[in-house]
Amino acid sequence: MAHRPVLLGAAIDALRIQDQGTYLDATFGRGGHARAIFSALGAGGRLIAFDRDPQAIAFAAGLPQAWQLPERGATFTLVHTRFAALSAVLDQLGVAQLDGVLFDLGVSSPQLDQAERGFSFRLDGPLDMRMNPQEGLSARQWLREASSGEIEAVLRDFGDERQARAIAQAIKARFDTEGEAALQTTGELATLIHQVLRRRGVRRDDGKDLATRSFQAIRMQVNQELEEIEVGLKQALDRLASKACMAVISFHSIEDRSVKQFFARHSGGMAERDPVTGAVRQADWPLESVQRHLPDAQDLQDNPRARSAVLRFAYKTSGGAALKARRERQGDF
Ligand SMILES: C[S@@+](CC[C@H](N)C(=O)[O-])C[C@H]1O[C@@H](n2cnc3c(N)ncnc32)[C@H](O)[C@@H]1O
Repeated sequence: MAHRPVLLGAAIDALRIQDQGTYLDATFGRGGHARAIFSALGAGGRLIAFDRDPQAIAFAAGLPQAWQLPERGATFTLVHTRFAALSAVLDQLGVAQLDGVLFDLGVSSPQLDQAERGFSFRLDGPLDMRMNPQEGLSARQWLREASSGEIEAVLRDFGDERQARAIAQAIKARFDTEGEAALQTTGELATLIHQVLRRRGVRRDDGKDLATRSFQAIRMQVNQELEEIEVGLKQALDRLASKACMAVISFHSIEDRSVKQFFARHSGGMAERDPVTGAVRQADWPLESVQRHLPDAQDLQDNPRARSAVLRFAYKTSGGAALKARRERQGDF
């Protein structure tokens, strides 16, 4: 299935695109959101896009004609990188400030739909799950090297899997008995998880495949997704111009929880109060007008995978620069 952008209209509205502005789409994918942002730009506008997946970058090779780049007068730069390098890459590009940033988190439909990427428990492929197969450990390598306790913690913390211990023990037992032949494919791992859960009387999980939680958790570990979100959002926030929008689309509750907490921490939502006066201790938070948008009927018709999507967005306050300067002086930024 081709990738259809999720919550497109709401994300574009939130960004309030100015035709000469500079925008970052940190998750290019197949360019659905990027194209809509680019279309709203005029001469002098600039779109920068990132993706860590080499296939997403290769896909973009034919885009200049499709997007009528020379005619539009706006510029488009696509970079093969990940969120953690956001500041460094913007420095290299000579971009000091952004007028808006979009993160459409998680995996793309093409990643899920290609068996050989190893993300899917429905399509049998090598047990890989790396968004960038050129870096880090594959899912299988990680499962082989991690201890039972580490696997259990990942399944519990990133998948809310109640049977995390039993699944982790079964995975390690499989490596102990079969060695290098064990768990070569996504299908073998899914079957093992199904067997463990059925033995323990788990029949169905909110209508989802029984392997969903474990696959999500292992994928998040392999791609260091929560660290990437935390670091990427922080670096993006530091680059936003006053009144610029930060928009983030997430696809499951664990991703959304960290986005929600990030917005709360930077908008006074988790502010410490003075125990005597009850006043919030710090007034100039870098983000304001935090909002949430859930998919409507049109969004679901456009893309059924939008079912669990949540868009959160907020705007940089004019006090953000003062806050940053103060924290830099205090050495905690
Ligand atoms: C949900 S898709 C984005 C789809 C895109 N908005 C579109 O309309 O086509 C998420 C994309 O973000 C990329 N991605 C995820 N985490 C990333 C990270 N930390 N750094 C860079 N790219 C990342 C994935 O490789 C994937 O292509």
